[in-house]
Amino acid sequence: MRKKIVAGNWKMNTTVPEGVELAQQVNAAVAAASDIKCDVIIGVPFTHLTAVKAVIDIDKVGLAAQNCADHTSGAYTGEVAAPMVASTGANYVILGHSERRGYYNETPAMLKEKVDLALASGLKVIFCCGESLDEREQGIFKQVIGDELRESLFHLDAQQMANIVIAYEPIWAIGTGKTATSDQAQEVHAFIRGMLAQQYGAQVADDTTILYGGSCKPSNAPELFAKPDIDGGLIGGASLKADSFMGIVTAF
Ligand code: PGA
Repeated sequence: MRKKIVAGNWKMNTTVPEGVELAQQVNAAVAAASDIKCDVIIGVPFTHLTAVKAVIDIDKVGLAAQNCADHTSGAYTGEVAAPMVASTGANYVILGHSERRGYYNETPAMLKEKVDLALASGLKVIFCCGESLDEREQGIFKQVIGDELRESLFHLDAQQMANIVIAYEPIWAIGTGKTATSDQAQEVHAFIRGMLAQQYGAQVADDTTILYGGSCKPSNAPELFAKPDIDGGLIGGASLKADSFMGIVTAF
């Protein structure tokens, strides 16, 4: 059975002390709750990884970086390599977020490298895909999402796919307050699972966790998570307060 996951993506928010405090709050809430039916992950800035790792129980709260370099080491000023992320004790990395693709020109070829290096470092990957508003309105969203998966993931073998979580994040729903309807999200999730089945067979398709992201909050999470192919969420804004994040974690 595939895992249910709720993952926070803090983006470029919180200082180290603020992030440590938020991580402690999430860790305490997860430890205190007896009825959590999903894995919980927090995606924090690089600067926070070591300090956050020290205050969480990694068996209860997974730890993700939000990016890694497309090289392993060397003269790449300002970059952070996958083995460095892994050496902090983090166990996940978010790759291919639309903000990285859009603002920092990350290409499918670069993301393919990053995916390979992350897996080689023992990190699990939360791989983001999703269409723009324009692409949705043109009716080409499945083609866009299909290309993103094919170009950066489908060189992997079935065994490697066990370490990939896919996050469907329609760009028009990110940080806009405009959530995809649960039917719109389910349609895309089922499409992605169908692609996985075609490429890897029914078992891999059935075992792969597919998250929804984009203005997910405690009020809309139950309806989204009730859909058969939506296995949880990647949460931006609502992950910055322990209360609202836990409101989503407990939505299953
Ligand atoms: P949001 O962001 O929840 O603030 O819309 C989601 C994301 O970008 O991962």
